Amino acid sequence: MGRLIVVSNRVATPTETKGSAGGLAVGVFGALKDAGGVWFGWSGDVVSETVAHAGPTIVHEGRVTFATVGLTRKDYDQYYRGFSNATLWPVFHYRNDLARYERDEYAGYRRVNAWLAHKLTRLLEPDDIIWVHDYHLIPFAEALRAEGVTNRIGFFLHIPFPAPQIIFSIPPHEELVKSLCCFDLLGFQTTTDQLAFHDYITRHARGTVSADDRVEAFGRHLRTGVYRIGVFPDEIAEQAQRYESRQHVLDLKQSLEGRKLIMSVDRLDYSKGLVERFRAFEQLLERSPEWRGNVTLVQIAPPTRSDVETYQLIRQELEGEAGRINGRYSGLDYTPIRYLNQRYDRWKLMSLFRESQIGFVTPLHDGMNLVAKEYVAAQNPDDPGVLVLSIFAGAAAELSGSLLVNPHDAIGMCEALQQALSMPLKERQRRHQVNMAALRKNDLGVWRDSFLRDLRSVPVGEGH
Ligand code: G6P
Repeated sequence: MGRLIVVSNRVATPTETKGSAGGLAVGVFGALKDAGGVWFGWSGDVVSETVAHAGPTIVHEGRVTFATVGLTRKDYDQYYRGFSNATLWPVFHYRNDLARYERDEYAGYRRVNAWLAHKLTRLLEPDDIIWVHDYHLIPFAEALRAEGVTNRIGFFLHIPFPAPQIIFSIPPHEELVKSLCCFDLLGFQTTTDQLAFHDYITRHARGTVSADDRVEAFGRHLRTGVYRIGVFPDEIAEQAQRYESRQHVLDLKQSLEGRKLIMSVDRLDYSKGLVERFRAFEQLLERSPEWRGNVTLVQIAPPTRSDVETYQLIRQELEGEAGRINGRYSGLDYTPIRYLNQRYDRWKLMSLFRESQIGFVTPLHDGMNLVAKEYVAAQNPDDPGVLVLSIFAGAAAELSGSLLVNPHDAIGMCEALQQALSMPLKERQRRHQVNMAALRKNDLGVWRDSFLRDLRSVPVGEGH
């Protein structure tokens, strides 16, 4: 079996792969350890041109090599802050209204992909398979092919793939889809995403898609598949239980003074539906006076991409809403929304999830949303909390034990909160079992192994 090469914009550090990173990093690292290989990407640092060109920095950890490069200020601005996060991210999350398009940034995006591909080429061996992750790296396979690389290359898109009419708002959309066709295997989170891609291929790229998801377009042959990313539920359950009597949990419990707890954890991103969520919670306080003073929403929202203007605006808006709602419903000893712009360790979050009665996860669009899955896994099966989940999260297709809501319907969300707050134990247990069975069936290992199995089975050279 050849080595595995993982390419992603962010690379976990060797220390993080030992447990503190998200489950995804741990899962990917597991595959790297099994096959041996390289994890390649951006170091997260902005550096001088000399330092950038001297890279990659290499760190060995057993059979795995971590290879990272810094980006110059211009590359960071055009590739990461610009085209990736001010054009692709909003459009792929159906927020064309928040997207901008700058030719220079797009040129920078392609330039950085070509440069990264060039750097990686020197580390490759003939039998390696290459697994590229996410929207930052759409042109990566095309760039590797231009370097003469003929290895199998797969791509997994962690975010939604939008309907053609939406992606059309990015002027070079056809070039992007053509670049995607240079991979041998494209993995999507849900059938909706896969069908949106097929729709583009058949109706707008004069391509074909067969019944077994083989695509022919732009003179290339490739395959597509749906691989639902998951978690390791039993590990999370164990972690949540192990830390439940730690001081931070006891402090929270004490401060709640018997009130019910609703938990939400998201990066501070406009795709997460945070403002809509706060307003739904306000509806609960407005329409159900018996809950005033008796329920608290803890929203943990670490800031992210704060040098992109749209992220500054959502932060301001959210601060305004939290202040307004708290101003209206607080008492001398009660604050309805505790809004925290901080990052918490994963194990702390899992134990806080276990303490709560509701997980409130209501993105406007989300590839999968692993927080929803982590929330379920962290519950005590004897007395589980209820997941209130947006129909626009990829996870909604699997977690049928949740209360599904439309995040654009504040009263509908408020009704779901009312239902969850007074749900009988038997029903909570039944819903939790349904969700846990789904998590176990499709765990992170299944996601990773099925993608890699399919990528390894692509005949070499089939794409040409
Ligand atoms: C999403 C993306 C990831 C990204 C993460 C954090 O989950 O799908 O590719 O790494 O957000 O965003 P950041 O911009 O900080 O890397």
